Amino acid sequence: TVGEYIEAPKVASVAEPLLLNAVRGEKVERPPVWLMRQAGRYMKSYQLLCEKYPSFRERSENVDLVVEISLQPWNVFRPDGVILFSDILTPLPGMNIPFDIVKGKGPVIYSPIRTADDVAQVREFVPEESVPYVGEALTILREEVKSDAAVLGFVGAPFTLASYVVEGGSSKHFTKIKRLAFSQPQVLHSLLQKFTNSMAQYIKYQADNGAQAVQIFDSWATELSPVDFEEFSLPYLKQIVDSVKKTHPDLPLILYASGSGGLVERLPSTGVDVVSLDWTVDMAEGRRRLGSDVAVQGNVDPGVLFGSKEFITDRINDTVRKAGSSKHILNLGHGIVVGTPEENVAHFFEVAKGIRY
Ligand code: CP3
Repeated sequence: TVGEYIEAPKVASVAEPLLLNAVRGEKVERPPVWLMRQAGRYMKSYQLLCEKYPSFRERSENVDLVVEISLQPWNVFRPDGVILFSDILTPLPGMNIPFDIVKGKGPVIYSPIRTADDVAQVREFVPEESVPYVGEALTILREEVKSDAAVLGFVGAPFTLASYVVEGGSSKHFTKIKRLAFSQPQVLHSLLQKFTNSMAQYIKYQADNGAQAVQIFDSWATELSPVDFEEFSLPYLKQIVDSVKKTHPDLPLILYASGSGGLVERLPSTGVDVVSLDWTVDMAEGRRRLGSDVAVQGNVDPGVLFGSKEFITDRINDTVRKAGSSKHILNLGHGIVVGTPEENVAHFFEVAKGIRY
């Protein structure tokens, strides 16, 4: 009828990125591949940018820089996942917890959170108000990579974020957060709950603005014994997953914890779609221990990238063979290490993308 027409879809229907198909267990010809910390200091192009913009906060909070840095590995290696350049600590200022990343020292939280009064000062996070640049950057990345790769968002898990803000930065023995956990657990629980609510919101915000899968980094949860993981980390991870699945049932969630060998069986019980294993777990054994419902990501030792090209090829093939021909995202077992030769990273991607099941 005159005056009536069907609006054309905003995006032409196109093929889905390989990574999403693999997570869903669809038949794929090879495992999708990306690398944790694929943007960053091992790249010459990043080092040059750091000279011009020495502040990490600026590099990670300016839309143009975030997009440029996120695309640096994309332009050279064409990974199947393009992860937002950001940090798990990026939401903290929006929660009333200022931080900086200091060269040679790492993350610094100027006023650590250690008492009930400190926790009371922590605000819940409203992403659209505090980090609008994250949404803008994700939207631009999505336009840039189209369906040739999946745009990946990420958040820190409650226990890992709490460990930074209680310790005041990186830690070796985690004595301050353990003192709090094991002497005033209710104070830590109220902090963990604030992070839980905030990170659930943040994941939804990232998905609404272009992230097609979101990785939850619980890097330090494995500093806890299994019984304490069950008290101080697992319930909060479950809450986040439940909350996100209610509103975004199709958004794949990936969980990474380093050194998680002792916790492998517990990780799928969070409800995530993908568990990312570190290299201390044999991939074949990891697969068996995880069960068949969940997809697996990983888990080549980042140190392998310092080896010969033949060795790198061999270890990729070993991992892929052990992971089997479905529901595997090839990745390292933790982030790329500073000093990794870029040509070895190029070799890693070349071999990985040449695999055929
Ligand atoms: O994967 C990617 O390419 C995205 C970028 C990314 C960064 N941090 C950039 C960054 C991601 C996914 C993170 C997550 C992150 N940040 C984690 C979880 C992952 C893990 O490694 O377990 C953790 C624990 C942090 C906290 C943090 N931020 C640390 C320990 C450091 C390193 C401190 C140092 O100086 O070595 C940072 C800073 C940081 N975040 C850097 C990068 C590239 C290095 C500093 C720089 O580039 O100037």
